[in-house]
Amino acid sequence: MKDPSGWQLGMGEGQRVHNFGAGPAVLPLSVVEEVQAALPNMNNSGFGLCEISHRSAAFQSVVDSAMNRIRRVLSVPDDYTILFLQGGASLQFYMSALNLLKSDEKADFLETGGWSKKSLKEANRIGDGMAIWSDSENGFKSVPNNGDYNLRDDSVYLHYTSNNTLYGTQYHHLPDSGGKPRIVDASSDIAGVTIDVSAHDVIYAGAQKNLGPSGVTLVILSPWALARAQANSEAGNLPTMLDYTIHASKGSLFNTPNTFGIFVLDCVFKWLEENGGLNGSIARNKAKSTLLYEELDRSDFWVPHANLDSRSVMNVTWRLADEALESVFLEKATAAGLGGLKGHRSVGGIRASMYNGCPIESVKALVEFMQKFEAEHS
Ligand SMILES: Cc1ncc(COP(=O)(O)O)c(C=O)c1O
Repeated sequence: MKDPSGWQLGMGEGQRVHNFGAGPAVLPLSVVEEVQAALPNMNNSGFGLCEISHRSAAFQSVVDSAMNRIRRVLSVPDDYTILFLQGGASLQFYMSALNLLKSDEKADFLETGGWSKKSLKEANRIGDGMAIWSDSENGFKSVPNNGDYNLRDDSVYLHYTSNNTLYGTQYHHLPDSGGKPRIVDASSDIAGVTIDVSAHDVIYAGAQKNLGPSGVTLVILSPWALARAQANSEAGNLPTMLDYTIHASKGSLFNTPNTFGIFVLDCVFKWLEENGGLNGSIARNKAKSTLLYEELDRSDFWVPHANLDSRSVMNVTWRLADEALESVFLEKATAAGLGGLKGHRSVGGIRASMYNGCPIESVKALVEFMQKFEAEHS
């Protein structure tokens, strides 16, 4: 089987596996090839991609291009700030609270999995963070509906995780924040699903799933968020590298950024623009996940984890009715050139991550494999 760029997909020398890894994850092959071409000589600058100064005009044009593309693809309002930071989404758990909260202030969290638990833990180092809704006791099978929770009267903002990578659950609506600012960890569905950027005040996402390689984190700030950070900065509460206003004032070039990661991000957004923009991405992700969920719903051989209305289009998680067969499934899948399918240890079973770079051909190969496996083992 070939992917749309002509590479053989499968198992064996010279082939790329069908990569269902949860991140770092498969990138569009044309992007990988563009990066390959830039390694010795980036954009005809004469400098290799990993050898060029972040202060050069050639690299500045990459930063500008990436920011412009992000603005266009995600419809980022003109008065919002785009940052390329390091430290992953995990640093943003802490950094967002540090910039937005004071020690006597409150923030409300929707606890839908391991990552939102971690974001809450970090926010509690700064102020009073509280899970106002949690699905912990049900094994994180769903996200809340509006009306399922109440924000505290005096909380400053609502934090949520738009897609729960480990459990395969996702919001299909904008969580009600009672008119308060929304902060979202969109690491595993940014640029893969609908997002109203203007309805959020901080959006953060590690790039390594839908946007590029690890080591660069996209952060989008509203004017409100930047003003909150400014107040905390002026009060002397922010270490330089954790101060949004410093990074914003220097266009994400306060210190040496992840130049390689930003270049790849620009390539991915270019690829998105050339392939139908955000709507194209949404349609492809819907088609891929529908194919897989139809297979999971077809037979009792499979036991999907997430509740119907909370199913993720990015990460699909399931068990086998006979759990003892899961290791055999994974072993045979690997031998068939289907990689990265082992479920996270907190859920077990199988997880297929189908981010933007995952071609539908890979999902078709997975479904074919599943049907064959079921026929052999039932
Ligand atoms: C939703 C979500 N948030 C946060 C993280 C942590 O990201 P990082 O490794 O970039 O810190 C992950 C990683 O898988 C994730 O899926």
